[in-house]
Amino acid sequence: MEWKNNILNTFPWGKSISRREEKEIIAGKIASLANDGDVVGVGSGSTSYLALLALAKRMKEDGIRIKAIPTSLEITIACVQLGIPVASLMEYKPDWAFDGADEIDGHLSLIKGRGGAMFKEKLLINSSPRTYIIADSSKMVSRLGSNFPVPVEVFPQALTCVGQALNELSPREVSLRMAGGKDGPVITENGNLILDVWFDEIPGTMEHAIKSVTGVIESGLFIGYDVEVLINP
Ligand code: 5RP
Repeated sequence: MEWKNNILNTFPWGKSISRREEKEIIAGKIASLANDGDVVGVGSGSTSYLALLALAKRMKEDGIRIKAIPTSLEITIACVQLGIPVASLMEYKPDWAFDGADEIDGHLSLIKGRGGAMFKEKLLINSSPRTYIIADSSKMVSRLGSNFPVPVEVFPQALTCVGQALNELSPREVSLRMAGGKDGPVITENGNLILDVWFDEIPGTMEHAIKSVTGVIESGLFIGYDVEVLINP
């Protein structure tokens, strides 16, 4: 049985989408990769959302059936709105996945997590045999950390001791990410907090150094992952 007048269908995509035309071209490329029966991991952010729209179009026009494994609540809601069946990593290993990024360097290392979903995004990338990183050209950087901090998801009770341990990694600045639509800090989908950490330099060992601090759930650093980057133009 279906819900009548499902309230979810009244929610628009939250933010205006920058560089939409560029992102739509990459979204079309992603949709063209889908085959009937695929289980596809879906990252977060506006580029992933546009790719999801393009996939829904292919499902409608070409009759292919796919299942999506979403990495955030906003993408789960978009799947429901588009009639794309949702699955989880507990049931399925994805055939392939796609996700956006905040920064990409020349070695294809990434900073992700502007949307705060980096824990599930990293789980997805680690579970998928192939992941496409989709982004507009503004995301390419010569040095990771140029435009974005490294987001670190922290168990709330551990905030003070994690803050102290992160300070030993010589950051330029550490700040608690504050919410936009509520008072106080951002609370992640996992009930945790986010510290945004600016570094002047990010050596290859940094992801492991951050992750090894007790109380850190995950960081938005993805150094040396096996990903394929699709950039437009
Ligand atoms: C969310 C992310 C996003 O993939 C990243 O922020 C890219 O977003 P957009 O496609 O809107 O530029 O890492 O946690």
